[in-house]
Amino acid sequence: MDFNNLLHNLDFPTAPDGLYEPIVYTLASGGKRLRPQLVLLGSQLFDGQEQDVQPAALAIEVFHNFTLLHDDVMDKADVRRGRPTVHVKWNENTAILSGDQMLIEAYKLLSQVSEDKLPRVLQLFNQMATAICEGQQYDMDFESREDVAIDEYIQMIRLKTAVLLGYALRIGAYIAGADDQQQQSLFDYGINIGLAFQIQDDLLDVYGDPATFGKAIGGDILCGKKTFMLLTAFKKASSEIRQELQQTLLRTDMTNNEKISAVTAVYDMLNVRQDAEKFIQHYTDNALLCLQQLPLNEANNRLRELAEKLSERKR
Ligand code: IPE
Ligand code: IPE
Ligand code: MG
Ligand code: MG
Ligand code: MG
Repeated sequence: MDFNNLLHNLDFPTAPDGLYEPIVYTLASGGKRLRPQLVLLGSQLFDGQEQDVQPAALAIEVFHNFTLLHDDVMDKADVRRGRPTVHVKWNENTAILSGDQMLIEAYKLLSQVSEDKLPRVLQLFNQMATAICEGQQYDMDFESREDVAIDEYIQMIRLKTAVLLGYALRIGAYIAGADDQQQQSLFDYGINIGLAFQIQDDLLDVYGDPATFGKAIGGDILCGKKTFMLLTAFKKASSEIRQELQQTLLRTDMTNNEKISAVTAVYDMLNVRQDAEKFIQHYTDNALLCLQQLPLNEANNRLRELAEKLSERKR
């Protein structure tokens, strides 16, 4: 299924262009299209038909893109997929309203799921959407807290990132007729690759190449995000270094680049990157274990390869 093409062919009115142009701009800006691919693989694992999951796959990708518009306002992020974000290219109100309309478009796509499956798919989709809002709220709450534990962080990224991957797979599997236990194993696989995915995202926010990653480096540091990197540094640092790190994050007499360099130097010194890589490997291994409970077919192989590939991703 060519998701880029399908998203490109979605029909939007031309007026008011202030509402619809940013939607077309966002949907045409690329992205890995990971989530619709997961819906499809979830279905293929149970020999489902492509056309039966296409509306849900597109709905989930449009929904994901909607969350990015609002997330970039919340995170003050200026670049995504190598292009200016909507709130920069237009303005914040545009990012809010075009984002709202994308959420509506996502539900319009979802409503094309076959009538017998739609009630349950809607229920799953709504559970997913609420979890993401909760995760995003914790993400913001943690910015102003110094005492976030790694476990709380894992709970937060489970909500803001991993559940979307889990439900994408689960919705695909449900539409293809998988039973509850199979759906649950696949969901668990999705949660584990999702946790690895967000820790890798935190790592790339420090050590990524902006040209490949498509986002500015150091944005998390400037926002005081309680990422895996920062929390691990807090945990490993001496109380002196920890205090220094906390002060650096609050300083107003340093440029953004100076702050990013200073914090990165602490991460380097404490080998935080290696800790992140260990956690990514741990959750990837968990995901691979979940796959053993599922049909051992071609889709299962693809899910294994995907988990391995994602743990090494650079974008
Ligand atoms: C970005 O997701 C949001 C996170 C959960 C880190 P992706 O990294 O999948 O973004 P695109 O869709 O490929 O641009
Ligand atoms: C992603 O978290 C979570 C959602 C967008 C819901 P991030 O804020 O880390 O994602 P990026 O780095 O902006 O893509
Ligand atoms: Mg965010
Ligand atoms: Mg963000
Ligand atoms: Mg990020």
